[in-house]
Amino acid sequence: MRAIEILLLSRDDVVALALTPNEVVSVVTEALCEHAAGTFEMHPKIGVHPTGTDPANFIHAMPAYLHTLGACGLKWVAGFAKNYQHDLPNVTGLQVYNDTETGVPLAIMDCSYLTGLRTAAVSAIVAKRCAPRDAHTLALVGCGFEGTMHLRFLANEIPTLRHVRLRDVRHQAMAELKECAASYFDGEIVLCPDNESCIDGADVIATCTNGDEQIIRSEWFKMGAFAVGIEGGCAYTAEALHQAEKFVVDDIALAEYFEHIGRNRKTEDGRPDPEFPGGLPKVYATIGELVAGKKQGRDSDQERIVAIPIGMAICDVALAHLVYHTALERGVGHRFRLA
Ligand SMILES: NC(=O)c1ccc[n+]([C@@H]2O[C@H](COP(=O)([O-])OP(=O)(O)OC[C@H]3O[C@@H](n4cnc5c(N)ncnc54)[C@H](O)[C@@H]3O)[C@@H](O)[C@H]2O)c1
Repeated sequence: MRAIEILLLSRDDVVALALTPNEVVSVVTEALCEHAAGTFEMHPKIGVHPTGTDPANFIHAMPAYLHTLGACGLKWVAGFAKNYQHDLPNVTGLQVYNDTETGVPLAIMDCSYLTGLRTAAVSAIVAKRCAPRDAHTLALVGCGFEGTMHLRFLANEIPTLRHVRLRDVRHQAMAELKECAASYFDGEIVLCPDNESCIDGADVIATCTNGDEQIIRSEWFKMGAFAVGIEGGCAYTAEALHQAEKFVVDDIALAEYFEHIGRNRKTEDGRPDPEFPGGLPKVYATIGELVAGKKQGRDSDQERIVAIPIGMAICDVALAHLVYHTALERGVGHRFRLA
């Protein structure tokens, strides 16, 4: 019997591969095209909810298979927003990558950095198709891990951006992101004292927060702007979410499932905390349909477009495929004999 060896990749190993935004966007785009073509298997995230520190805590199981790419695996990912109290990241977990011929596990890798790469890639991919022509100004609210990834990927996919407004309740997070972004963005970056000065009139708005504040108000969301939020629709007031002429998600079944589980959710102080304030808006298109050219992203300079990617396991497994093969080529990681 052949030995079964697993490649173990730590977060440092994944970071050391130094995958470029273009490499990541390319493989995630393949996954989105397979989504549009229907050549995938994926299920709405199932999970458990150890609510000790926060009612919103979750650990999700995210299996996925992409037929054409030949990638399959499972992400087991936790989101604990209060983890800063333990000096730990919000998002932690493991990505398992399996052989599609034999089913054997080929690799186990840290999934936190991967999640940042894939989430930012998806937001940047949809932004490229829905942002106004010659978009100059980006408002980025939430400058933690995901916000940091988003700035890098959005700047890469929307090269016309010249002004970035950052907003975070933690001044240090804004200052650190400004410093880090200087290595790849040569436009102006300003730190904003409040949500209004950040969002009002921006061409592109991205929210990467982990709180329960409804940050985006309709009066700041100008005609013709594009907004993407990765915390479900939680960062929008119902009015701002529902005034958009087009509403885009990554996967309709996922969005409906999250809408359903958010319906009875409450914040820590007992307020309703729905996934989509005012309910799930009518979906115009999936991101895959935009990428595959089945639907047009932007039709006019006037329309407001909102995209809410919930986070698809097929994008994670596509990235795991890239990471596994790149690590093999470069001799990165440790081998573990499983059987
Ligand atoms: N949709 C997806 O695919 C996907 C994937 C990964 C993470 N997420 C979500 O993205 C969010 C961010 O994750 P992260 O790992 O970057 O967390 P993080 O803790 O590193 O960053 C969150 C940042 O938001 C800031 N923030 C919180 N409330 C704010 C407010 N009202 N105004 C301004 N700033 C505020 C915090 O200070 C922090 O800097 C989480 O909600 C997470 O669940 C979504």
